[in-house]
Amino acid sequence: MKFAFAAVALLGLCGTAQAATATRGAFGQLADGSKVEAVTLTNSAGMSAKIMTLGATLQSLVVPDRSGKKEDVVLGYDTAQEYLSRPNYFGASVGRYANRIAKGKFSLDGKSFTLATNDGPNHLHGGPKGFDKRMWKIDSISSGPDAKAVLSYVSADGEEGYPGELKVTATYSLNDQNELKLEYRATTSKPTVLNLTNHSYFNLSGNDARDVMGNMVTLDAARFTPVDATLIPTGERRAVAGTPFDFRTPHRVGDRIRDAKDQQIRFGRGYDHNFIVDGAAGSLRHAARVEEPGSGRVLDVSVTAPGIQFYTGNFMDGTFFGKGQRAYRQGDAICLEPGVFPDSPNHKDFPTSRLNPGQTYVNTIVYKFGTH
Ligand code: GLA
Repeated sequence: MKFAFAAVALLGLCGTAQAATATRGAFGQLADGSKVEAVTLTNSAGMSAKIMTLGATLQSLVVPDRSGKKEDVVLGYDTAQEYLSRPNYFGASVGRYANRIAKGKFSLDGKSFTLATNDGPNHLHGGPKGFDKRMWKIDSISSGPDAKAVLSYVSADGEEGYPGELKVTATYSLNDQNELKLEYRATTSKPTVLNLTNHSYFNLSGNDARDVMGNMVTLDAARFTPVDATLIPTGERRAVAGTPFDFRTPHRVGDRIRDAKDQQIRFGRGYDHNFIVDGAAGSLRHAARVEEPGSGRVLDVSVTAPGIQFYTGNFMDGTFFGKGQRAYRQGDAICLEPGVFPDSPNHKDFPTSRLNPGQTYVNTIVYKFGTH
């Protein structure tokens, strides 16, 4: 009796220590019958993140607003099959190379490689069947001060035209401080190029109540990489000072997004550009802040990557429908995709996207939520 009581007390203690929990369950199945699973990370501060095995995708992210109301702040679909059929990369883990590689061509050590061109003349987000459309495995889940899910994927040598067998993990963890941390790691069997990132579309108003034009955005970036008309960097690193790209102090997204005098705004149809994050790449540093005045939700993004792609959903045109059969339109979300610069394999003076055997690639992203 006494013993049983002690055991219960001990369990109670452990219960308090294990503040955030991870649970695993079915998410549904694809048209071809393959089963999709999901891990849900829940903390004691009202946040929960659901990650599904298809694309190691952040499928939903519930965050309390300033009055404690819990709502989903990421765009996506209700069913797994829709993620496969639509090309928007909602919440997906993107690879092998997030963003563009010019004309789908690069060379390594004198050898040329040809990739699919699936975005006009260019290669985008790893090709027609990138990591977002692959089934990842759940390696482990754990509860504790950080609730954690480790997902993995092995990309065969030559998959989508890239050299080397690439072993990739995506580790999502959530703590009680409302920080969702995401870490991509990879090793390769041959020299290769890669750029892994997460492609979440944030709408902090919750359940997409409002578009993001009134969101206040700060980007810790004194320079960005201008692009040509096909969104390939020209190689220039341009100062943001005096341009619609100066977000070093908070600005409403909508204030300068129609400034057609700026050729870069015209090329991007708004914002679809890589910003060079201030400070030393490799160290975790603050890169971006988004504040949604209506709900009071605030998102702070810290990164180890050299760059961050700021994209305002410019290709969403109301022809496809997300969670709850809601039509998604231009300016309905903000994407902040930390990584190396677009088309790095073809720009020797950009931070390298090369990975050699024996090295470990790491890209760490922290999304911290709060209210004001
Ligand atoms: C990235 C690109 C955009 C677009 C989206 C996906 O953000 O920079 O141009 O391709 O992905 O639609």
